[in-house]
Amino acid sequence: MTLSENRQIIVVSDAKALAKAAAERVIARIGAKTERVAICLTGGSSPKQLYQLLATDAYRSQIPWDHVHWFIGDERFLPADDPLNNMAMARHIFLDRFAPAANIHPIPTDTADPQEAARRYESELQSFYGAKELDPARPLFDVVLMGVGPDGHTASLFPDYPAIEETQRWVVGVPKAHVEPFVPRVTLTLPALGSCHEMLFEVSGSDKRKILTRVLAGENLPAHRARSIGETIWLVDRAALPENFRER
Ligand code: 6PG
Repeated sequence: MTLSENRQIIVVSDAKALAKAAAERVIARIGAKTERVAICLTGGSSPKQLYQLLATDAYRSQIPWDHVHWFIGDERFLPADDPLNNMAMARHIFLDRFAPAANIHPIPTDTADPQEAARRYESELQSFYGAKELDPARPLFDVVLMGVGPDGHTASLFPDYPAIEETQRWVVGVPKAHVEPFVPRVTLTLPALGSCHEMLFEVSGSDKRKILTRVLAGENLPAHRARSIGETIWLVDRAALPENFRER
């Protein structure tokens, strides 16, 4: 395990071990609280095995479903039942079977445009949080799951887009995506995503090695800039690990 710039890198053997390690971290965070828990999920392919694991008896029985709330860090502006909609994927794999409907908080995509969706989700988050200003002593989320794209984006915060510099808004609309699917996006901003006890990146497979090398070298990419006010953990499997990476 390496501690660098407030970021811990935990190396595991493969994708299966990575999903297990992520599930255990999520369960530990849930177990650390007796009151309401807020988890911010992510889209893409990286978290699918984790979601499948959370649906198995061993893990789902450890989740007090009534007091865990599920949010999403970014959304593709596609109908709520489109298989490429991020929350649709999480709902299909595990949420719809176990979570009370009132505890699932999708980003709306039936609005006139992504900006309107962003305003609505921001106000939903603020009402859940009970304030319009984030207090570092009271993080919005317990866990924020993240992935990294080939261009170094995370959530729908793409390199050099204005959304990455946002400091006031919690959620913004992104008119055009930098990667597939090329549909408008809605994304939480760095301050909102960072307001958590734990930000947990999952990075698996050799096709991630190139971008991980750049992120770990400290390039000014969204995935490098995304940090929690609490712990920032990168769970990485051996196939994704840069050749020159040395565990210290
Ligand atoms: C999305 C995601 C995005 C994702 C990365 C990694 O809407 O696509 O939230 O930020 O996490 O692109 O995607 P993969 O896990 O598919 O590699």
